[in-house]
Amino acid sequence: MTQPITIAVVGSGYVGLVASVCFAEIGHRVICVDNDEAKVRMLREGGLPIHEEHLPEMLSRHRTGRLEFTTDLHAATRAAQAIFIAVGTPQSSTGSADLSYVDAVASEIARSINSYKVIVEKSTVPVYTNEWIRRVIERNGVSRDLFDVASNPEFLREGTAVVDFLHPDRIVLGAATDRASDLLKALYHPLTSGEYYRAANAIPGSRSESDPPPILLTSTKAAEIIKHASNAFLATKISFINAVANICEAAGADVEEVARGIGMDSRIGGKFLRAGIGYGGSCFPKDVAAFRNVAELVGVDFGLLREVEKINEEQKQRFFQKVRSALWTFRGKKIGVLGLAFKGGTDDIRESPALDIVQKLLDEGCIVSAYDPAAESRAKEVVPPGPQMRYVDNPYAAAQDADALLVLNDWQEFAELDLEKLHYTLRYPIVIDGRNLFDPSVMLQHGFTYLSVGRPGIALQPDPVTSLPSKS
Ligand code: UGA
Repeated sequence: MTQPITIAVVGSGYVGLVASVCFAEIGHRVICVDNDEAKVRMLREGGLPIHEEHLPEMLSRHRTGRLEFTTDLHAATRAAQAIFIAVGTPQSSTGSADLSYVDAVASEIARSINSYKVIVEKSTVPVYTNEWIRRVIERNGVSRDLFDVASNPEFLREGTAVVDFLHPDRIVLGAATDRASDLLKALYHPLTSGEYYRAANAIPGSRSESDPPPILLTSTKAAEIIKHASNAFLATKISFINAVANICEAAGADVEEVARGIGMDSRIGGKFLRAGIGYGGSCFPKDVAAFRNVAELVGVDFGLLREVEKINEEQKQRFFQKVRSALWTFRGKKIGVLGLAFKGGTDDIRESPALDIVQKLLDEGCIVSAYDPAAESRAKEVVPPGPQMRYVDNPYAAAQDADALLVLNDWQEFAELDLEKLHYTLRYPIVIDGRNLFDPSVMLQHGFTYLSVGRPGIALQPDPVTSLPSKS
């Protein structure tokens, strides 16, 4: 049996909150610290600031037991053996990560250290952050033998964060001393030993008792770079397939077939090869820019990443052009929109390509009816409802009497729509799909004019504009 360890997690954003709940789930005592009193109160009462599968039931399972929420970092530091820093690292005006929250938390932790602690970076941070944290703590008068700084990057995706945490491909531990790595290994022992997966109420996923996740022990710098490089590589994969999609579109091939063919090569792998309107979210855009910035700082010109960003930006513009080519003019047109979050399965609208497109439609004078299963209230804060912008509570209401329907993220619910009903709900049966959720031949059978990404467009009657190959 794994011995419970007391840890503090500083920051209750996506990473901090999911890590806190999951560490409690695997048997540890967790003190989750945030300086936002209202948020702490909400969490104590069982409320959640984010939409994430499994989190509600896990929070209610642990919040009156092994998991507590507080604003008191001093007391949490004193009680914990390891303190995870999971505060935000937003993008600064230069594209680099703004580490002022990490700096402030490190100083505060330093002022509370009274016995040996492992300070663990969980936020996505540039290489060298580890050394800066060490320096900050030393500057505050803490003796070198009272702490270690380690790096334990997180690879969870929003929407599947809990499963990603509990069933990881790998656990990366960057530590400079055995003392630090031993504590972190003990912390993850319920997963790496397979013990957790035996539990009757374990959250199901790809890992099992006979196939537990491996640990990769690295230097702290390597762990920091692994996180940035992983996100930058995944973003590169997406921009790559989007560029290939544009070639497919011009050549009259289907990018889905091409992606399948590429992905079957085990050296490439089929994941993250879904063409669409580009990546968004709080991680990829920020981390690609931050990694490019890190490269610059150490004297490396990582021009590839500039290209990745450029393709991603152009992908939205191309999609918008496609909408224009289907509608001819915009002013006064009624557009149904499915999806506002940066992807399906989440309520997060940060850097959402969907919202960018909605904003452009509004700027062009369209009247938009939008539906997203989870992101409505967040979207309303950025694009308030009004005569031009309506939020509706189901996909058919978005399509009602619309001149066209746009699919802007990939909720499963959208892929399962009743196409017959959709057809008679729309004013014109035009669907422009930015996430390739539908089979073009099925759409044709149902009488739709259907445009998607990287696949030949279909129209019942050849349309003078949409049947032309796209230009850019
Ligand atoms: C991403 C990484 O996948 C996680 O491993 C990482 O831990 C996380 O960032 C982070 O750094 O915190 P996330 O931002 O939640 O996770 O979302 P993803 O599922 O990776 O999707 C990112 C964007 O890429 C979305 O807009 C999605 O629609 C788009 N995407 C993804 C594609 O356009 N095509 C694909 O094939 C896959």
